[in-house]
Amino acid sequence: MTTQQTFSILKPDATRRNLTGAINQKFEENGLRIVAQKRIHMTREQAEGFYAVHKERPFFGELVDFMISEPVVVQVLEGENAVLKNREIMGATNPEEADAGTIRKEFALSIGENSVHGSDSDENAEIEIAYFFKPEELVG
Ligand code: CMP
Repeated sequence: MTTQQTFSILKPDATRRNLTGAINQKFEENGLRIVAQKRIHMTREQAEGFYAVHKERPFFGELVDFMISEPVVVQVLEGENAVLKNREIMGATNPEEADAGTIRKEFALSIGENSVHGSDSDENAEIEIAYFFKPEELVG
């Protein structure tokens, strides 16, 4: 087992409903440490760049509009097998398919407004962290 970092976003549906603390509690009680965190209002350019891999998908426009609709909290989470562990804590992308006790089962409104984003691989975690944070902003 190795200590890893993963990138996380608390999405607009979560910040709007004041769920920042409740979601952070899920990370912390499951052994992930928040080593960087900031609340930002993403620009359209930032959101389009971040989700560029999805730009051919039919939901791309809706996804970008949603992500810039209200503030988000971007985070770096650290812990053993952080990428995989965070995916377990978040639950399935579609809240209807998410396991009991997961963030998306408890808080998500729909597949689009699904409260959180988490990196899907170590490689993408590194890219996504660097997209929003300078190395000196990570304090372990
Ligand atoms: P996320 O982990 O942020 O990565 C891409 C996002 O696209 C995903 O979470 C969902 O919120 C969103 N998404 C995936 N499928 C759909 C869909 N069918 N309709 C709207 N949004 C979607």
